[in-house]
Amino acid sequence: MARSEYIKFKRIALSSAFLLIALSAPALFDPDHTYAAPAPGEIEEAVTAEGEAVKKIASEEKAEEPSRGETLYLGLCATCHGSKGKGDGYANTFIRPKARDFTSGLFKFKTTPPGQPPTDEDLIRVTEKGNPGTAMPPYGSKLSDDDVMMIISYIKEKIAPDVFKAETTPYEIGDPPEATPEIIESGRQLYAKGDCADCHGLKGRGDGELADGDMKDAWEDRIYPTDLTHGWELRNLNTVKDIFRSITAGLDGTPMSSYASDYSEAERWALAYYLKSIQIERKLSTITTVKKVEKIPSSTADPAWEGLDYTDISVKGKKIFGQSLIPMITNIRFRGMHDGSKMALMVEWDDRVQNRGKKTPEDAETYRPADIIALRFPAIIPGGSPWVDKGDRRIVLDIWEWSMADNSISEYTGRGVIRNNKKKKNVKSISSYEDGQYRVIFIRDIKAKGKADMKFNVGENFVYSILINDGENLEKGQHGGATSNQHFRLE
Ligand code: HEC
Ligand code: HEC
Repeated sequence: MARSEYIKFKRIALSSAFLLIALSAPALFDPDHTYAAPAPGEIEEAVTAEGEAVKKIASEEKAEEPSRGETLYLGLCATCHGSKGKGDGYANTFIRPKARDFTSGLFKFKTTPPGQPPTDEDLIRVTEKGNPGTAMPPYGSKLSDDDVMMIISYIKEKIAPDVFKAETTPYEIGDPPEATPEIIESGRQLYAKGDCADCHGLKGRGDGELADGDMKDAWEDRIYPTDLTHGWELRNLNTVKDIFRSITAGLDGTPMSSYASDYSEAERWALAYYLKSIQIERKLSTITTVKKVEKIPSSTADPAWEGLDYTDISVKGKKIFGQSLIPMITNIRFRGMHDGSKMALMVEWDDRVQNRGKKTPEDAETYRPADIIALRFPAIIPGGSPWVDKGDRRIVLDIWEWSMADNSISEYTGRGVIRNNKKKKNVKSISSYEDGQYRVIFIRDIKAKGKADMKFNVGENFVYSILINDGENLEKGQHGGATSNQHFRLE
């Protein structure tokens, strides 16, 4: 008890003792009673007894006062993990993957063998750094080390004491050996020979043959192999040591098993270095120069594309009718070129499964809509911002929409849901899907076709944004990913 609180209790104790004496005063003078007035020493005794009683109550109350760990847990963690840690917080209705039930004993991010609870260091790491790409936030910059430890002790001792009674035998996660080209090369060979590609795909984009199935985690939710080329999506964090930990311990409760006994320690470091080496370098920007070239290539695989400068654009889920979308496609790479009369804009994105949207009504559960990507330009300048999905009466958009359903483009003036289809024909597409990656080139005459067509001029900047529907993620129409406004300049 704080000193000031103690003084307060003492004061209450004294005053209630005097009250007691005052109340009993009439009785003292009641002729039917034979009490004698208490001697000064007796009053003193009564005061002390009352004080002790109050102190006792106070200390009992103190035991019921929530600990700091509990207060912090209830304030910060319970919305998702639930007030009793059962993973049934209010927010868990909306988020995927769901927040963990700490009482189940099944944990994904740890250094211990399958079935064992995580160590303190594991719990601290996740609490401080979060799980990127999921709803689990990093608390490292907001909480002191002591506070983190108090929350963790609360989880271990009060929320799931039975789970944390179990003994743990953590794997050894040492420091990485030095990076060398040989290590990376041996990692590449191990990856190619092993079963990693069955799930993560030949190039690591999460598009292995097992990805297009019915992979579920232990919580019965659909799960996909990680796109290992997207470092920013790694939930179990992204240093070489983090990746080594994922390979060594696996992610319990998911199809990602522990490889501690399949590969030697040196081999697991080699794999980790190789995976680090295939991550793409993300160049986030909002402006791209569309270069002037001699000739526009006729295929997505033409080496001319590789030499171009590109921009990586972050894709965000849109919030529609209170439903928040967590996109599986998080990045679109944009680049372009023109030859003076035609321009070609290429978008590239990783997608684990190619969805054509062919209807299979006999099995509605496995039906997935088609993958769609659309470039949007303001048809009337200034176009206004933010843009409404497919335009509205005021913000009229020029939309070039490519769909995997028929591998072709519909080009229309977006005036909102009802009147959005004034078909035009000036944009053509070339597309490919290989090793979990789409490339779609939009090719158009720079010159406008007719009055209603978008006008582009060499030497000027243009604003656009992108809408994307990932069929695998059941995205359709309004329900999809979007980018902020971007710009390109025709060189
Ligand atoms: C906004 C929701 C949200 C809040 C708030 C939240 N978490 Fe989480 N947490 C999650 C999600 C979602 C996961 C699971 C991620 C996954 O499975 O990939 C998770 C996972 C974890 C894990 C890893 C469990 C495992 O399987 O290894 C720990 C530990 C954890 N959270 C602790 C905390 C603590 C401590 C707090 C409060 C300080 C907290 N979380 C607050 C959503 C949340
Ligand atoms: C049976 C399918 C399967 C196989 C085989 C497999 N993985 Fe995984 N792996 C997964 C899944 C699914 C996840 C994602 C778990 C999640 O989303 O929480 C994953 C996650 C990972 C992660 C962690 C990603 C993160 O978010 O931090 C790494 C690293 C990884 N795998 C590497 C490998 C390597 C290396 C191999 C081969 C030695 C391999 N995997 C074999 C299915 C597999």
